[in-house]
Amino acid sequence: MKQKLKDLERDAIKKITETANVDQLKEVKVRILGKKGELTSLLRSLGTVPPEERPLIGKEANDLRIILEKAITEREQVLDELQKENRWNKERIDVSLPGSPPMVGQKHPLTLVTEEIKEIFVGLGYRVVHGPEVETDYYNYEALNFPPDHPARDMQDSFYVAPKIVLRTHTSPVQVRVMEKQAPELPVRIIAPGKVFRRDDDATHSPMFHQVEGLAVDKDISFADLKGTLLLFAREMFGADQKIRLRPSYFPFTEPSAEVDISCIMCSGKGCRVCSYTGWLEILGSGMVHPRVLEVSGYNPREVTGFAFGMGIDRIAMLKYGIGDLRALFSNDLRFLKQFA
Ligand code: DAH
Repeated sequence: MKQKLKDLERDAIKKITETANVDQLKEVKVRILGKKGELTSLLRSLGTVPPEERPLIGKEANDLRIILEKAITEREQVLDELQKENRWNKERIDVSLPGSPPMVGQKHPLTLVTEEIKEIFVGLGYRVVHGPEVETDYYNYEALNFPPDHPARDMQDSFYVAPKIVLRTHTSPVQVRVMEKQAPELPVRIIAPGKVFRRDDDATHSPMFHQVEGLAVDKDISFADLKGTLLLFAREMFGADQKIRLRPSYFPFTEPSAEVDISCIMCSGKGCRVCSYTGWLEILGSGMVHPRVLEVSGYNPREVTGFAFGMGIDRIAMLKYGIGDLRALFSNDLRFLKQFA
């Protein structure tokens, strides 16, 4: 009997220490100390022990119960600790690990170029203004001296949204809107950046693109002022040794009119593929504001003169950043856009 108690003790202690969690421990406790447990059954067979040994065995059995109960309580505490530690390990945050930074946006190349252009002209005393993208035939064409049915209107194949209502084909209508509002106040000095629309779609033409209009009206403004202003702009924008070249041209709203080239920013005028080996890049149209345009806008063409220009922002961005396909500017591919961070 004594031996049985010893065996039970060894066996029970082993089982208790091997439990992995509180639930297992509870099971083991029932199996050993429960009503039908191992120790209880052993005590039941006390009847087979000679009577004189019974008190001793009984005491030993009770001692064993106390020992096992203590072992179970201790194991319970150990398991409890372990469980807490496990949870702590699972929930702990390693503050030394690198974080995952949120995606940061950045400005679109067209925004960058537009801001640069604005800054240069604001530095010269120009005001930045905006006109509507949906425009009337009057502002887009008529007030700018495009006669009705004149072939000049075909130069800019328009999107009509209603009879006599177009998506503006250029930013020049803003000239008339500004003068109308300001007349007869002098001087007028504005630039008007924005979207324009034409029926065009290929690698170098998009149905929507961007222009900046410029307008200066005052007493005694001359063609030399136009040339000086554009040269200064070219040098600020593309570098101090920039040259410009003016070629005679035609626009209904300017007289005389000129197209303006800058020396090629890729080859500095030596001739390359980008400038078709001419050394020059066309970037804008310009001229002296036509007397008829001044007149319909509320200024007396015998008293004031003005110059105007309009340039393509998309083309400047393409040249500046070496972008081969205009459509890259509008496809919103992050791999493209991220390069301008
Ligand atoms: N509006 C013209 C275009 O879209 C560009 C232009 C030419 C604007 C001459 C002007 C100018 O202000 O004077 O092609």
